[in-house]
Amino acid sequence: MTLFRGNVLDTPTSPFTGGSLRSQDDCGLLVRSGVIAARGPFDVLRAEHADEPVLDLREGLLLPGMVDTHVHFPQVRVIGGLGLPLLDWLDRCALPEEMRLAEADYARSVARDFVAGLVDAGTTTALVFGAHYASAVDSMFEAADQWGLRVTTGLVTSDRLLPEPLLTTAERAYSESLDLATRWHGKGRLRYAVTPRFSLSASEAVLEACAAVLSEVPGSWFTSHVNENLHEIREVAALFDGAAYVDTYDRFGLVTPRSVLAHDVHPTDAELATLAERGAAVAHCPTSNAALGSGLFPLRRHVEAGVRVALGSDVGAGTGFSLFKEGLQAYFVQQLLGPAGMPLTSAHLLWLCTGAGADALGLAQDVGDLSVGKQFDAIWLLPEPGDPLAVGLANASSPDDALSKIFALGTSSDVGGVWVGGDQIASGRWRLPLHP
Ligand code: GUN
Ligand code: ZN
Repeated sequence: MTLFRGNVLDTPTSPFTGGSLRSQDDCGLLVRSGVIAARGPFDVLRAEHADEPVLDLREGLLLPGMVDTHVHFPQVRVIGGLGLPLLDWLDRCALPEEMRLAEADYARSVARDFVAGLVDAGTTTALVFGAHYASAVDSMFEAADQWGLRVTTGLVTSDRLLPEPLLTTAERAYSESLDLATRWHGKGRLRYAVTPRFSLSASEAVLEACAAVLSEVPGSWFTSHVNENLHEIREVAALFDGAAYVDTYDRFGLVTPRSVLAHDVHPTDAELATLAERGAAVAHCPTSNAALGSGLFPLRRHVEAGVRVALGSDVGAGTGFSLFKEGLQAYFVQQLLGPAGMPLTSAHLLWLCTGAGADALGLAQDVGDLSVGKQFDAIWLLPEPGDPLAVGLANASSPDDALSKIFALGTSSDVGGVWVGGDQIASGRWRLPLHP
């Protein structure tokens, strides 16, 4: 067991439904077999557990691990391709790189870069958009397993309108997906995600194959893209007899409480009603939406319709791994929407980065905050002395103010330590001795 000692910030209940920031200075967290066994004032826990080793993290702040609900592993090396709308960006930036992952050694090194990016950013749980090649998806699972991250991912499938090397058939998609799920689903912290790229590039036969895999792999997840870009939406409608984008998945039974659809920048009210009725979640990807000029996310309409929303970095259209940046950009967008926007507090932002993601991924029993009974998935924020975040935190007027400063100023370089299930995992920028 280890007794962690620190200043803890988390959001055990959603601020969208009345929750608020929980702040506890000099908090003790007793961690046994990766799970938080007790929580309370450090002095009290120390008296009860006098012999346990103590890890003193009071110098910075302790937060739950970040949960990224939409991030593309094959795109880590093309982050920053600015100036193009979605379909042009896919053609010129993303897809040429994704074809390179046919080569297994290349895919393996990309997977290593990708996982390092997640860990550096303090992301401990992620729904990862995989690759079009099964061998590359194996590399992703292997890398996540080596680092001990909670990763849900799978084979990306498409059978039309992409460059030929990225295409498959419904039959091959089905069998390769099942093979991958057999190898990885339920191994350690890994799970399988059925992943048609988007209905623009997936025929009805591929979507049917996806539905078969989803039902044959108990506990697997479903993810894809929806309503991201107006041009894309028109093209999808033309391919599916004028159907609404959400319905192109729904008619195959792919919209369920185990579904996370990315973007949804331009939904109709009827689509929001379908998402709410089915219990599906939306991954809001604010830096990507801004970088590709996709639009301003209608968060208020989602919340009022009862659709669950979490955050995704959408690397590589998104501009980096840090969910602090995504949270800040989400806040900006709601400000810019004026009366149609939803004013967000720093507690909303932390919830969107943690508890909301855990909920969207069906992991809320285990992660998302630092309550007793949850896994100890945590990040230690430790800005360099003298940098603007350190100065801001030293002068914060309240815990909510400190958290606002974290979202305004925090970056991956402020993450000084990362734990998953009580295991400390290291990154290149490690600043904490590995043992208490
Ligand atoms: N739609 C289909 N593929 C992609 C992708 O790779 N990135 C984004 N942002 N949207 C997509
Ligand atoms: Zn995406």
